[in-house]
Amino acid sequence: ATSSKNEAEAKRILIVSNRLPVKITRKGDDMQFQSSEGGLATGLGTIYQSGNNLWIGWPGAVLHQEEEASVTEKLEKLNLRPVFLTDEEITYYYEGFSNETLWPLFHYFPTYATYQPKDYDFYESVNKKFADAILAIAQKDDIIWIHDYQLLLVPNLIRQALPEVTIGYFNHIPFPSFELFRLIPWRKELLEGMLGADVIGFHTYDDVRHFISTVIRIKGALSYANELTYNDRIIAVDAFPISIDYKKYQSQAVDIATRCLERELLPVIPQGKHLLSIDRLDYSKGITQRLQAFEVFLERYPEWHGKMTLMQLVVPSRDTVPQYKELKEEINRRVSDINGKYGTLTWQPIQHFYRSFPLPLLSAMYKIADVALVSPMRDGMNLVCKEYVASRTDGDGVLILSEMAGASRELSDAILINPNDIWAFAQAIHEALSMPEEEQRRRMSAMQATVSRFDIHNWVANFMAKLSQMKKRQDDMRTR
Ligand code: F6P
Repeated sequence: ATSSKNEAEAKRILIVSNRLPVKITRKGDDMQFQSSEGGLATGLGTIYQSGNNLWIGWPGAVLHQEEEASVTEKLEKLNLRPVFLTDEEITYYYEGFSNETLWPLFHYFPTYATYQPKDYDFYESVNKKFADAILAIAQKDDIIWIHDYQLLLVPNLIRQALPEVTIGYFNHIPFPSFELFRLIPWRKELLEGMLGADVIGFHTYDDVRHFISTVIRIKGALSYANELTYNDRIIAVDAFPISIDYKKYQSQAVDIATRCLERELLPVIPQGKHLLSIDRLDYSKGITQRLQAFEVFLERYPEWHGKMTLMQLVVPSRDTVPQYKELKEEINRRVSDINGKYGTLTWQPIQHFYRSFPLPLLSAMYKIADVALVSPMRDGMNLVCKEYVASRTDGDGVLILSEMAGASRELSDAILINPNDIWAFAQAIHEALSMPEEEQRRRMSAMQATVSRFDIHNWVANFMAKLSQMKKRQDDMRTR
């Protein structure tokens, strides 16, 4: 294990994802560079910022051609290589095929999925654009780690050009069952693309199982345990549940600035208990279903009226995609109906925010929240629940977690709910608000033990170890 670790360390690593960990935003003629606080950026930060390693991706803004050279130069100093996208590419590749075909289908919303040949054509050409950007710098001894569903075709495009290079692919969203995946007109091409990798990673064993059975049925690959044999190559398919930088959230929670913020907030936010939800605007997050359950809770348990508040943070996202626009309106309608129906002159059941919050404020909110509600209809992993657990440095707090989030496999000490069962969900809210402190502490300490042990650094190390193990086996097979 040590020798393969050293080997991997000596090699150059190229990380590839749709978005770079730095986002460019325009303010008039000015361009601002904003670093991502996201888990992936933190976890892979130590990798791409060291040595000759690089991160390749889209910087998040449409630039004029004459601006590209100076932006490239600035990003290069940060070990980042931009892939610039045009307005048209964003419309058809990103909003279209990525977020109107793959996203809804992979999250079990098949009726939301559209199958437009023009979207797929752009998806293919943008995947080639990413592959060309990689191939312009890649050498056969590099390790190339490709991330997520926007780039499914890239592994094989690289494999064709550099047959011996080491390629990893990680899918950050669920992988659906064969019955759903087979609906895609380009199902063979997408699988062929993924099968260019040496290691294909998912969050859960269910995703692994779905992928293996899909590949066997559509591509006729052979499988033995968690390995596929395809085109005379062995491909490892395994579960690597992603996590957070536990220490970062833990120290943020005890940080003096967070403590001050928490003290400042406590007198101004509503009295009583606090329920907290934080989600990116997305139908997969189950925000409207949660509001339904909250309304049933208010109807059934009037003893809580005036004694608790739901703090609902929704982070803007993809609001140019029609379903997201409609969802935003529906959330506004429901929040206003509930507040109108149950609110009094001195109490509003829901405080709703539609914007991003800086990390210190999020940490203070996690500290204030007696109960966190994480109730997606479907989620690859969900990191909000892990952030809540890491932030509860006083050891109490209750997590209500959907069985449909990948994280529910690890966090079995949460109150697990089926987000479609709104009656049981409503009851779980009552149970969480009434939970004795001793039980809260017992459950929270078990969850903290899990999340602190399996953190983002552990995730990166496990994936890289598997990749170098597979590379060694491929090399042995070739020289045999
Ligand atoms: O984790 C899934 C994912 O789509 C990532 O690939 C992405 O960076 C994140 O969610 C946010 O989505 P978007 O990049 O579309 O804003």
